[in-house]
Amino acid sequence: MRRNLYLETFGCQMNVLDSELVLGQLRAQGYQSVSRREDADVILYNTCSVREHAEQKVWSRLGELRERKAEDPGLIIGVIGCMAERDGIKLFQRYPQIDVLCGPGELDQLPTLVHNAAVTAGPNRARQVALMGAAARRSSTRDAAEDRLELLDLSRSVSPSDEFPQTYVRITRGCNKFCTYCVVPYTRGPEVHRPPQNIIGEVQRLVAAGAREVTLLGQTINHYAYKHGDGRTTTFAELLYEIHEATPDLPRLRFVTSFPRDFTDDALAAMRDCRRICRYLHAPAQHGSDRILKLMNRGYTVGEYREFLARAREHMPDVYVASDFIVGFPSETEEEFEATVALVREAQFKSSFIFKYSPRPGTVAIDRFADDIPEEVKRRRNSRLLAVQNEVSAQLNRQMIGRRVEVFVEGESKLPSRREAVAANRVELGWEKPGLEESATETQLVGRTRGDQIVVFDGPTSLKGQILDVRITGAQSLTLFALLETPAPIGATGAIQTAGDPAR
Ligand code: SAH
Ligand code: SF4
Ligand code: F3S
Repeated sequence: MRRNLYLETFGCQMNVLDSELVLGQLRAQGYQSVSRREDADVILYNTCSVREHAEQKVWSRLGELRERKAEDPGLIIGVIGCMAERDGIKLFQRYPQIDVLCGPGELDQLPTLVHNAAVTAGPNRARQVALMGAAARRSSTRDAAEDRLELLDLSRSVSPSDEFPQTYVRITRGCNKFCTYCVVPYTRGPEVHRPPQNIIGEVQRLVAAGAREVTLLGQTINHYAYKHGDGRTTTFAELLYEIHEATPDLPRLRFVTSFPRDFTDDALAAMRDCRRICRYLHAPAQHGSDRILKLMNRGYTVGEYREFLARAREHMPDVYVASDFIVGFPSETEEEFEATVALVREAQFKSSFIFKYSPRPGTVAIDRFADDIPEEVKRRRNSRLLAVQNEVSAQLNRQMIGRRVEVFVEGESKLPSRREAVAANRVELGWEKPGLEESATETQLVGRTRGDQIVVFDGPTSLKGQILDVRITGAQSLTLFALLETPAPIGATGAIQTAGDPAR
């Protein structure tokens, strides 16, 4: 049997995690990953449906494979993830080269689907489908599916030989919010909360195997509340305390994405009290106008969002907040767009992801509201909002210059041109360290602060995965530049040497 597997992942962190689980399962069946698509016998795309642009990328990949499939009918092509669920078997008609379709709620079945596709490959092939469909929101079908999905998460193979200093752990699946523009409740199904003991066990196994930063995942993560059989509930705040306590050797714990409306004080207090939980919140505001927020079905007003921000900063004056915004939502006036601009200026977000509204089949918005904002207006609003956010980010970043901060080293920086910027900043600030400066063999590394800011600095690649201190020497809107402060990585015990970002 041919077992070279190529898997490409699109979309959010949930998909990245799903791909890891899928790879683990397929490896256990004897498949091996290859990094070049040309070498593959099985090609899988783990897809995203959130905006049309995300789907376009996959359409073009599939188009490229048409001829190859005709020449090699034994090649297995699979589309998995949100696009498979959203488009369903219509994809087969459009792309006859696809053999396997598998939604995100059925991924535990993928090894069987791939196997069946492989054994029937050829002129009379049996195409394989596993989608949860609309029935998924009915509880009877759902309970069984949930148990299977939980087993998939539990089956995660964790071995110290895997390289994963940074890793994700799911705490909820699905979403119940039904924002009018969004496909996620349809592709990922209803919100389900994983049992706390399973989550804690998974985090502990990852830490034992070398994980140094764990990011908890959920679409509206702070909505987490697990009802135990005996009637007790574990709240999100309690879960944070429990994970923090159970993993004293984990230097960094993060979570995304927060829903502004459900953010209770006890969860903010948990963040404040647990030193190893990063001072970072990704809490998308989406818009600065109450009328649009209402059309979006977000369930809060701009005033309530502001109140949430104020509470977050009251609990943690050093917290960094990131947001998402949609521009060009149906009927958005210039004035309403300006309200978003004003919110971005005022809220002092560390960064914002800005998206042009993309009408998605199956959502309420596409049926109810005409996509009446011309593309060029969307584009203009997008770049204007981005420019304002960049100003805010640059200003926040400049305040960091001169401070000593803790960074998690993610790896080599892919932006060699920034080397000059670092050097220039050093000279400007009179902080040249000739010893470090002259080492031509040193690479440029990229790391993240506890507030999720990107930091670029020179150092050996052996520092990857370490947590260490740097001195900030320069700032742009998206990047901080720094010099290594601690000569050697912190001790092997995993303890943090300094008190985080003390200057913030
Ligand atoms: N659960 C997260 C978001 C998941 S989708 C939350 O509610 O915050 C990620 C982002 O994509 C959203 O925050 C939104 O800004 C954007 N998005 C979702 N659907 C979109 C659409 N149809 N058009 C444009 N942007 C969209
Ligand atoms: Fe989509 Fe809204 Fe759910 Fe986020 S909260 S995943 S935007 S429906
Ligand atoms: Fe995309 Fe699905 Fe994530 S639609 S954003 S991959 S949940």
